[in-house]
Amino acid sequence: MNPDVRELAAEYARALQGYLAGHGEAALQQAYEVGRQTLAKGLGVLDMATVQHWGLLRALAKSRTPQERSRALRAGQKLCVESLLPFEMAHRRVQEVNTALRDSEHRYRNLVDTARDVIYTLSSDGRLKTLNPVFETITGWSRTEWLGKAFAPLVYPDDLPRAAAMVQAVLAGQAPPMFELRILSRSGSYIPGEFMVTPQIHEGQIVGVLGVARDITDRQRADEALRHLNEALEEEIKRIAHALHDEAGQLLASVHIVLADIARELPTSSSQRLEEVRSLLNKIEEQLRHLSHELRPTILDDLGLQPALEFLADGVSKRTGLRISVAGTPGSRLPPATETALYRIVQEALTNVTRHAQAAHVAIAFSRNGHALCCSIQDDGAGFDVPTTRARRGQRGLGLMGIQERLNAVGGTLNIVSEPGRGTELLITVPVEATSADSHSARR
Ligand SMILES: Nc1ncnc2c1ncn2[C@@H]1O[C@H](COP(=O)(O)OP(=O)(O)OP(=O)(O)O)[C@@H](O)[C@H]1O
Ligand SMILES: [Mg+2]
Repeated sequence: MNPDVRELAAEYARALQGYLAGHGEAALQQAYEVGRQTLAKGLGVLDMATVQHWGLLRALAKSRTPQERSRALRAGQKLCVESLLPFEMAHRRVQEVNTALRDSEHRYRNLVDTARDVIYTLSSDGRLKTLNPVFETITGWSRTEWLGKAFAPLVYPDDLPRAAAMVQAVLAGQAPPMFELRILSRSGSYIPGEFMVTPQIHEGQIVGVLGVARDITDRQRADEALRHLNEALEEEIKRIAHALHDEAGQLLASVHIVLADIARELPTSSSQRLEEVRSLLNKIEEQLRHLSHELRPTILDDLGLQPALEFLADGVSKRTGLRISVAGTPGSRLPPATETALYRIVQEALTNVTRHAQAAHVAIAFSRNGHALCCSIQDDGAGFDVPTTRARRGQRGLGLMGIQERLNAVGGTLNIVSEPGRGTELLITVPVEATSADSHSARR
């Protein structure tokens, strides 16, 4: 007999003897404890039966009369039930855990099956292990066509190195940032997807990749539409700027000629007054020219963001008395859409400062952080409550919304830091190529 079973049987026999000697509850507790220890030692119900059988035999051997034997049998029955209680409780707990596990598995499966994003797993050699149903809706493929096969042929060839690098990173235990890949659909076209991948772990080991992919076709279309809208808007602004510059400029030139004619016909004392009018007209002309250049600064196209912003800051300063400093540099030339977006954003920010802030000073600062260009526009004015303003419905301003939309179109972000009485800072980041060529050529 197993030594553990032998020891437990001896203890059980002692409990039975104790019960027969009138120890009642204490003996029952002892039998319960034998059951608990049997379980704790990893023994099973059959071992428990052996323990009970052996203990009962001992008690029977010590009984001399038929009455004593029948008392021993009745006591044996009571202790038998008591010592089995720990087994019964353990069995119930296992059942409860199993039910909870089944429920949670069911909920998890439901979530995966009804998700709008593709959820998939890859084995460490890059084969598709699981795919949820939405894969079929998005790509048109049947899941059985791809399960067990390498994922690589699904990826647009130019994107494959990135996909492979991400899988390698995950298998090395990293959780890389989101990335985009184009995925082959059954019709032969490619669908843009945004991917998030993490290691799939089993018993402490990385056994594959768990991924979630989102179809971003609609988002890309919306961004594209926004870009077109911005381009159309820029064209319109250019037209207005030229009208202001050329037509208003010519009208003013005609007024100058008429005034010169009148001046010749007037006595000297009156013509001096006309001279004042002409100098005022010169000022208007100068301001109109400045305004038309700010509207569509050719300087932005020809020389880039920094000179254009300095020109803008100079004009706003002269008109409003606001002190404006421009620090740092946006670095090399950026894509035209990004430069235009940043120019328009600073322009709206400065308009907001002059309209709402009653500030004395605005600091515009650029810094480069890897693939991000950061631009801060900070004033020392009245400030405002950002959440309240952003949640405002009805007569809501378009300026901040326009800034956000322009940034969305170029993949940038906006963070507003402001509090009433503490000034306002707009923190803007836009993605830029770290290696973008330092080309200073004109673009139009
Ligand atoms: N620099 C700032 N200082 C203080 N308040 C500001 C500043 N910038 C924005 N605000 C507040 O945020 C609100 C929203 O600004 P937003 O540019 O979106 O709209 P607006 O300037 O009121 O109108 P619009 O730009 O459409 O002509 C403003 O009405 C103002 O209360
Ligand atoms: Mg505004």
